[in-house]
Amino acid sequence: MTKKNIVITGGAGFIGSHVVRLFVNKYSDYKIINLDKLTYAGNLANLKDIENKPNYKFVKMDICDFDNFYKLMQDEKIDGIIHLAAESHVDRSIKDPFTFAKTNVMGTLSLLQAAKLYWESLPEKYEGKRFYHISTDEVYGALQMTNPEGVEPPFTTTASSKEHHLAYGTEFFLETTKYNPHSPYSASKASSDHFVRAFHDTYGLPTIVTNCSNNYGPYQFPEKLIPLFINNIRHKKPLPVYGKGENVRDWLFVEDHARAIDLIFHKGNVADTYNIGGFNEWKNIDIIKVVIKTVDRLLGRAEGEDLNLITYVKDRAGHDMRYAIDSSKLQKELGWEPSLQFEEGIEKTVKWYLNNQEWMDNITSGEYEKYYESMYANR
Ligand code: NAD
Ligand code: TYD
Repeated sequence: MTKKNIVITGGAGFIGSHVVRLFVNKYSDYKIINLDKLTYAGNLANLKDIENKPNYKFVKMDICDFDNFYKLMQDEKIDGIIHLAAESHVDRSIKDPFTFAKTNVMGTLSLLQAAKLYWESLPEKYEGKRFYHISTDEVYGALQMTNPEGVEPPFTTTASSKEHHLAYGTEFFLETTKYNPHSPYSASKASSDHFVRAFHDTYGLPTIVTNCSNNYGPYQFPEKLIPLFINNIRHKKPLPVYGKGENVRDWLFVEDHARAIDLIFHKGNVADTYNIGGFNEWKNIDIIKVVIKTVDRLLGRAEGEDLNLITYVKDRAGHDMRYAIDSSKLQKELGWEPSLQFEEGIEKTVKWYLNNQEWMDNITSGEYEKYYESMYANR
């Protein structure tokens, strides 16, 4: 294997930390640089197990800082960028869209320009180089519910089961689906995706874009549905379900996303796009009930005793009804498959949060608690 120097942006966040861990452990001859600004969502505690590995380095930097990023590329002779740094929470984007435009659009543009200028200055130019941009299925907008009843839970999912995938509707997001973002978050991600593709089409930058569905698993910041609800159930706090809880999301275990990123970074076609998802659609209210029952069982409570914590609150503005990814292209072309059944993934995830209470307490104390209380009070 050729030695590579790779920057992973947003490596102290949820998905980024899993990608950093996978690359550091798997590629001992690569130099992995985790570049992160450490916003509220960045947490170096996510990487404690690998922080002393010789092939790992952390750099605290804002992706909008063009000069320092360009210098880092020169100093470290960077061959590859795996770009995950972003503002990632829809509710925050509704309150503060400017930060999303700045980081997600301008930050991505800054990285693209630095990569272009540095790689163009080398004798080999773009040979062996990669700019891999991690995006979301939310850029495609919302799908119709052609079968709002769906299938009755609990159902057993089989990895890549198309029947399950078709539970709520016949449409799904393909790589060719037209972009139609609705939230400031998805609009900023869509814009950054367009810049990445424009840099390939205009300058020949060797780019790849992937669009993944909702991730779940360890180390997710507890403002997102699953870790937030696990923590609230543990503390017997209300569970704020937006609207009627009927929106559908397509859930993928985070380590499966990280495995896909590894595969696509090494084997994906330049200028191509791949959708990543596990054919695993759930109505919010159904997933919430599974989470409640799992937490109750693991805490030795009567199964379902916390169902009464469910509290229906005002819907999220512009709340997308349904997301569903068709990842057939990735499965057929590169042979990727999700490794876990959903039931196993949720069990693993709930256990992880319950066993890592200190990690959770460190995040949810202080500033975040005040923020969360104010968000909740405003509903
Ligand atoms: P996250 O919010 O957990 O982590 C984001 C990380 O980026 C944090 O470590 C933060 O400190 C860092 N960051 C933010 N602004 C920065 C800046 N200006 N400069 C440098 N670092 C900065 O996000 P996540 O859920 O891990 O998502 C990672 C990426 O994957 C994002 O691009 C997101 O759009 C995409 N994505 C997420 C999901 C999901 O379900 N979470 C699904 C598909 C795609
Ligand atoms: P979230 O984890 O914020 O991901 P995204 O908005 O990117 O899909 O939310 C997942 C779903 O859960 C979404 O339909 C909104 C809903 N939700 C709630 O009902 N209550 C909550 O407190 C949160 C955070 C989300």
